[in-house]
Order: sequence, then structure tokens, then C-alpha cells
Amino acid sequence: MKDLEASLPAAQDNFAIRCRDVCRSYGKLKVLTNLNLTVPQGQIYGLLGPSGCGKTTLLKCIVGTLKISRGHITVLGKPPAFPGHEVPGKMVGYMPQDLALYNEFTISDTLSFFGRIHGLTSKETRARMDFLIDFLHLPQKHSLVRNLSGGQRRRVSLGAALLQNPELLILDEPTVGVDPVLRAKIWQHLVEIVKTGKVSVIITTHYIEEARQANVQYSTHDGCMVVQWVALLPCSKKVLGSTPSWGSFCMYQVPGLL
Ligand SMILES: Nc1ncnc2c1ncn2[C@@H]1O[C@H](COP(=O)(O)OP(=O)(O)OP(=O)(O)O)[C@@H](O)[C@H]1O
Ligand SMILES: [Mg+2]
Repeated sequence: MKDLEASLPAAQDNFAIRCRDVCRSYGKLKVLTNLNLTVPQGQIYGLLGPSGCGKTTLLKCIVGTLKISRGHITVLGKPPAFPGHEVPGKMVGYMPQDLALYNEFTISDTLSFFGRIHGLTSKETRARMDFLIDFLHLPQKHSLVRNLSGGQRRRVSLGAALLQNPELLILDEPTVGVDPVLRAKIWQHLVEIVKTGKVSVIITTHYIEEARQANVQYSTHDGCMVVQWVALLPCSKKVLGSTPSWGSFCMYQVPGLL
């Protein structure tokens, strides 16, 4: 497996993420089985699906914090955790479903911490921090994380993912606990950054309304699709289009949203 990965060429194709025949189990529980998926560059790729179908597991495999049992994943040209490749690292902004924040840090400490990890100068970090605090409606930057509400913590975590302007955003339910006005603003921002063609986003949500709205508002730009939605439903349903399998779930294009 290592040799195979080492011989993979650098990114030339027009995709941000490619999963081929990916399998991942937890003990005897098969969560991902021969999963195939391609996230094009410059698009928002939305994953919908019932709780427990494997969305978070897949995102962890993509970001490189969880090893796959079989198959191949390419993220921005190389496998995740490939030596010298900044995935996980500067190239990727990851907002995990279970937040990983230090309670004893302030908002400012948190963003400075991530800024240093990603090699931003103090000036760059300050500028991004000011933008993100305003954009994400965060409280004062000297507020301690432990004193924030659940929704505010999630927004700090989203801020940390956006901080270094990464090429790829991997967002696991980023809009939980976010009010509708801010949710729309976040979507608008994501669409703006993918329209540059240099940023790609993979995102999960349980808000079907959010998915529908995002598609109505943002699905086309100069005739190009900006958002594409894929739902993971039990395989017994009639499958539309190509049908890579997802454990006992299959991927369905969501025509109602397109
Ligand atoms: N560390 C773990 N050890 C054992 N089983 C796990 C572990 N993490 C996840 N699972 C199981 O793997 C399956 C997929 O979980 P996962 O968190 O990927 O689902 P999900 O689609 O993200 O769900 P949700 O929408 O609720 O976030 C579930 O059955 C879950 O119980
Ligand atoms: Mg999840």
C-alpha cells in the first residue's frame, strides 16, 4: 500500500478529493464499503444522510486522522498524511463534528494558535481574526471558550477552519446551532470562495431546507454548477445515476435539489 501511494503522481486532474474503493470498519462494523466519490475543484460537495451512515468517518479518512482499511484516497493530489503534503495541515481547513477546542483559551488565543500552526504572521492572523469575529458574529475576542454557548463554540471552530484561507474546506455539520441569518451568510461566503476556482468544500448537514435553499440560490453561476448534493440512503431504494456503494448505503444524486 505504501509503495503504491508513494508512486501516485502529483495533482493534475481537476478534482480536490478522489476516493476509490474505500473501505473502513470499526471492528466487525463495516461503515464504508467500496466507496467511490469525486469532489471536483471549485465546488461545494454536500453530503446528506441518516445519522450513523458514515459521513464523519469518511471525512476523518479524507483529512487523514483515520486510516482506511482498503482502497485509495487522494486529497489535493496526494494521499492524506503523505509526508510533506500539508493534509492534514495548512492546505485543509477541517471543522470536526466533535469540537477540538481548548476551554482555557480565549477566542483570540484559539485563532492565534491555529495561525501559528499554519505559519501565518501575527499581522495576517490579526487581520483574519478581525474579519472572522465580525463575520461569524463572535463575542469579544478575550472571551474564554469555556464561557461560550454551544453555537458560539461551533462558530469559533468554523473560524479556525477558515483562518488560513485553505484550498480545501472539510466541514462536518458547520451550521448546527447557527441562526438562519448567519447560516445564509456562511453559505454565501462559501459560494464566493469556491467561485474563485481555487477553493473546494465538502460539507455535511442534516438541514434539508438548508440544502434546498443553497441549491436554489447558488446552484448555477455562469452556467456552472456550484453546489452538488449527494444523499446516502439504504441500498434497497432504487438507485439513480451511478451507484457507488457506501456500506449498506448508496449514494444518490438528489434531483429535487438540483
Ligand atoms: N470510534 C468508533 N468506534 C466504533 N464505532 C464507531 C466509531 N465511530 C463511529 N462509529 C460507528 O460508525 C458508524 C458511522 O458513524 P459516523 O459518525 O461516521 O456517522 P455519521 O453519518 O457521521 O452520523 P451523524 O449524522 O450522526 O453524525 C456508526 O454506526 C457509529 O456508531
Ligand atoms: Mg457525523
